[in-house]
Amino acid sequence: MGNESKRSRCKWGLVVGVVATLCAGAALGAGVFYLLRHLESTSGDAEAATRHAPSASDLLYVFHRPAEPIFTLRGHDRNVAFDVPVSYLPARYVSLAAEIRDSAARGPGRRLIQVPDLPMPAERFADINGILPFRSPFTRSAPIYLRLVIRFWHFFQESKSVPELLARAVWARLHYNPEMILDALMLAMLRSPFEAVKDVQLPELPQYIPELYTDDEFFAKAREEMHLVAEKDRVAVPVVRNLAKDDEAVLWYFREDVHFHVFHWKWHVVYPAGSDDDEYVDLPRRGELFVHLHRQFTARYNAERFTNGLPAVLPMDVHEPLPKGYFPKMVHLHGEKGTIGRQANTSLLPLAKFIQNHDSQRALYDQVLKQGYVTYSNGTRVNLVGIEGLDIISNLLEGNSLLSPNYDYYGNVHNDLHANLAFAADPLHEYKESFALTSYITTVAKDPAFFNIHQLMDDLYEKYKIKLAPYSTDEVTPLPAVTLQSVSVRTAGLSQDNALRTYMQQTDLDVSMGLDYTPPGRQYARFTHLQHRRFDYVLQVLNNESQDRKVFVRLFLLMTEDENGSPLDLDFQRRFSMQLDTFEATLSPGANTVRRSSVDSALTIDNDAIYTPQPSVAEIRRRNACRCGWPSGLLLPRGSPAGTPYKLLAMVTDFAQDRAPKAASEQCSDGWLLCGVPGSTHYPDVRAMGFPLDRPFRAAVKTLGDFLTPNMAVADVVVQFENTTEPPTALLPGGASTSWMP
Ligand SMILES: *[C@@H]1O[C@H](CO)[C@@H](O)[C@H](O)[C@H]1NC(C)=O
Ligand SMILES: *[C@@H]1O[C@H](CO)[C@@H](O)[C@H](O)[C@H]1NC(C)=O
Ligand SMILES: *[C@@H]1O[C@H](CO)[C@@H](O)[C@H](O)[C@H]1NC(C)=O
Ligand SMILES: *[C@@H]1O[C@H](CO)[C@@H](O)[C@H](O)[C@H]1NC(C)=O
Repeated sequence: MGNESKRSRCKWGLVVGVVATLCAGAALGAGVFYLLRHLESTSGDAEAATRHAPSASDLLYVFHRPAEPIFTLRGHDRNVAFDVPVSYLPARYVSLAAEIRDSAARGPGRRLIQVPDLPMPAERFADINGILPFRSPFTRSAPIYLRLVIRFWHFFQESKSVPELLARAVWARLHYNPEMILDALMLAMLRSPFEAVKDVQLPELPQYIPELYTDDEFFAKAREEMHLVAEKDRVAVPVVRNLAKDDEAVLWYFREDVHFHVFHWKWHVVYPAGSDDDEYVDLPRRGELFVHLHRQFTARYNAERFTNGLPAVLPMDVHEPLPKGYFPKMVHLHGEKGTIGRQANTSLLPLAKFIQNHDSQRALYDQVLKQGYVTYSNGTRVNLVGIEGLDIISNLLEGNSLLSPNYDYYGNVHNDLHANLAFAADPLHEYKESFALTSYITTVAKDPAFFNIHQLMDDLYEKYKIKLAPYSTDEVTPLPAVTLQSVSVRTAGLSQDNALRTYMQQTDLDVSMGLDYTPPGRQYARFTHLQHRRFDYVLQVLNNESQDRKVFVRLFLLMTEDENGSPLDLDFQRRFSMQLDTFEATLSPGANTVRRSSVDSALTIDNDAIYTPQPSVAEIRRRNACRCGWPSGLLLPRGSPAGTPYKLLAMVTDFAQDRAPKAASEQCSDGWLLCGVPGSTHYPDVRAMGFPLDRPFRAAVKTLGDFLTPNMAVADVVVQFENTTEPPTALLPGGASTSWMP
């Protein structure tokens, strides 16, 4: 090993950062040695890489290892490089440009992607790093950051060709916060005018930002494995659960479920909290959906709480100390920084301005309810009527900066709660801590306080909802000639009806795309998550008409017992009913047996398919568009080992009356209950979301039985937790085991 090669390694060392200390004579760790050896074997070779014009799929390499500058080797095998124009390099690297280009260009079998050298508008984005520093955590829930996403999205949209889009993405990724840039690039790719871009299967958040879903010790373990062990011998690194002594910690399987967070983030990508882009933000019924979505979260959290002997979640009271502490045990890879925690009984009172605003905004809301109208910023009064009124109320309370009737006047109740919770641990910024994890939309629901906030929000919506006229018997009986005689469930492999089973499932996922400064090859993370045995719903329906009749079948699960096994109040059962599915069926005249599989639920999406390379362009496009949906593993509440009783409520209504017109662009049939249909101008179901349980029952109803009409049926079902953990299933070529789905 001559001096010459040592010198060039040192230069490369400077480039990749991690090995910089080598040249300064610091100790040589085993891991670093592996990295060097690898780099030497390729960069020492004079054989040139093959040059390629950029193609749309090269955009994927922009997502790889977000904490590394984009000129490092890309791809799972680190055999792809962007030939980055010198004019794109940040100041730090300009003097090293020759070495960077040289290292990228050398290596047999290496693919070098020619990035066009175009003028880039640094002045247009001169303010960005002052607002969101390069190594800061990013969340799109902060309106100020969301505006940055939308600016870059527009910047990407202005590209006149795929190579130009790639050039813009490469340039932006080198200069601005990578998470924010990737958020904008994802939007640009999803809505790209270029057919070739739409045909690229997009990566999923846990693949390129795995730190959001893994514990802080994960990375040291994964790096050791990757540096010291050849790819074929590597073991999956288990993700360790955040098990505190706190009683709430038993709910980790719900609050830390990977796809719960991915889903929540996607929802807020589809339905952003504001900004000035009408086409993006002003979607049909988005306020109502905001209410429905978060109520479903609270309902399901309550179900898990009862099963684990915990009382129903309480609404947040900003004047009282927060009952629960939370220490996220997460590390942010761009900054190699931990995230701030919070002690139990932390008071929000030092955030005096927030408390004051919160109180006055709550008073304004009470006044709105009393008056029955809102006043828009231009002075127009709009009366709050029916479910449309809830839509307005929701946008008002959320603090949607575009859709609130008057954002400056009514304020920002929901968004302020989240933002200020994030400052609770260092309210006066004395310790110069960044905002807490509780503000990152990607993981916010890990914190128990998330549910306190949403219980409070739900209580506020409920104040409006109780003013809506209860449904009359006629309204819930649209098809007098159709009788739902019974509903039941049948679990595969079980002989008795109405028995449902849950268990824990391990799933391996390749997260190497998000592991910065590591050697080539895949590295798996092993996640443990809730799962259930597949089951079918079976309905006996009598159609007393002489022709076929298309119906909508609606399915809900109702809790029956609280944490002590005492019966729940009927209104609580109704309000926190869990939506399971809504689907269409065609009834022939006479008796019908309607079957529906749990995997087809319109609530959930196929979580395996996200990680599976799709066989056709049509499937890729569908997968990209249809990635929002409740995680299939959480379709059922966990239940206790002895079995937890629930009521399954089924209802049959008229498809012709209830189904909104299908838009030509509609391509998703899954996940729509909580997400709507991306690209469609309508939410598929014209009834109020959660119908017929979305508002208080008519006065005469004292029991669930009193509410039932001939088109409804109820079954007593038991969800039993097997308390076993099943190992991961076979791996897919995409780098995940197929076990996200039951
Ligand atoms: C929080 O305050 C309550 C009520 O004063 C007390 O019972 C509880 O022990 C406190 N928790 C902690 C962790 O200090
Ligand atoms: C006032 O604003 C509302 C909501 O943007 C709009 O619907 C209405 O037409 C406006 N009225 C006038 C008089 O401009
Ligand atoms: C079915 O329709 C016939 C004729 O209209 C009626 O006599 C009968 O009562 C109906 N049966 C049910 C179950 O509704
Ligand atoms: C599951 O089994 C383990 C080991 O026997 C036990 O410690 C744990 O409490 C059980 N879980 C539940 C929810 O009962």
